[in-house]
Amino acid sequence: MDHFSYQNQTLHAEDVSVKDLASQYGTPLYIYSRATLERHWKAFDEALGDHPHLICYAVKANSNIGVLSVLAKLGSGFDIVSGGELARVKAAGGDMSKVVFSGVGKTPEEIEFALEEGIHCFNVESEPELHRINEVAGKVGKQAPISLRINPDVDAKTHPYISTGLKANKFGIARERAIAVYELANSLPNLNVVGMDCHIGSQLTETGPFVDALERLLVLIDELASKGIHIKHLDVGGGLGVTYRDETPPHPREYAAAIAEKMKGRENLTLIMEPGRAIAANAGIMVTKVEFVKSGEEKNFAIVDAAMNDLIRPSLYSAWMSIIPVVEGLDRETHNYDVVGPVCETGDFIGKDRELGIESGDYLAVRSAGAYGFVMASNYNSRCRPAELMVDGSDVHVVRERENLKDLWKGEHKLT
Ligand code: LLP
Repeated sequence: MDHFSYQNQTLHAEDVSVKDLASQYGTPLYIYSRATLERHWKAFDEALGDHPHLICYAVKANSNIGVLSVLAKLGSGFDIVSGGELARVKAAGGDMSKVVFSGVGKTPEEIEFALEEGIHCFNVESEPELHRINEVAGKVGKQAPISLRINPDVDAKTHPYISTGLKANKFGIARERAIAVYELANSLPNLNVVGMDCHIGSQLTETGPFVDALERLLVLIDELASKGIHIKHLDVGGGLGVTYRDETPPHPREYAAAIAEKMKGRENLTLIMEPGRAIAANAGIMVTKVEFVKSGEEKNFAIVDAAMNDLIRPSLYSAWMSIIPVVEGLDRETHNYDVVGPVCETGDFIGKDRELGIESGDYLAVRSAGAYGFVMASNYNSRCRPAELMVDGSDVHVVRERENLKDLWKGEHKLT
């Protein structure tokens, strides 16, 4: 459930009219709902009940510091993949001791930064990375807490670009190599083996693959214990899907309960989760204005002021995202439209074949845009990136100002 609904035929974010926000702050515009973010985070946290656990929100899904600050206040942990994300968590007031650092290509500078900040754990993806972390930790005189990302080789049954747990993916360490790599990690002087992690993919709509992966990891954890290597936490990654159209993913409560069930009797094994999309997607919308309605010979086009640079998921993954009118119930003739942006690429679309009754000047809202929306925006075609707002009841916070033209060439230099 989220807090975007029609009141008096106008879409509202919590208690605020989206139409008023669009006319005041301009479009394209991202709008987030604080109550929705909090509700989703708590759904995970509460579902895990008494089992020792830590919800590490995947910062990549939406890294705005306004969003991070809301979650930090709830006591959230964070899953990061770069020094930049670590700096954002810090700026947002996040607890460094609840940060896990994922990603296949951590640089020595990023490792040093994370060690200085005292993060919870490095999620290590390869043997060369183990050596690098050991070396940097030695240099700065610290012990680095590490977990190994195990590739459980399960099929997440999701889009190939966002499926990560198969052998053919670049991520993690193969199950067959796991014990040997743990033994190596255990033998390196500046590493402290604390965990095991995995992440099998994103936008999963079934619990089965998660449970399969978990079972495979528990077997390894027991095998390691018999060799004297004791794992303190198990991080099952993120990946729970949301409903964009007609998908029926399990509720976070169901998903977390299925995981917690498998952890029964293992109360000394802390459970970590890294949800991103399931927390942020439905906590945000992107609002755009119809510039022109164009009737072609074969197609009708709604040319809107948002483009692939503002929201790339439809172009990049052929992702279907719901597009709804900000004001509903208008007495308009409907037509079938491709909703396209002003960028000079045929692949620039927000949605295809949508039945809409629209006129130039109308506002449309793209639902479920809170995750992998603004974070993937670019300045392609020298377009200023949108503003981001956080609505909290009837309060509105500008959590990111709209870029202006001068921002476009910030840091660039012309030749004289
Ligand atoms: N943990 C790790 C190690 C990850 O790689 C990811 C996502 C997550 C957690 C969070 O997954 P989530 O709960 O959000 O599914 N840009 C794509 C999604 C890429 C996801 C990459 N990894 C999209 O727009 O669909």
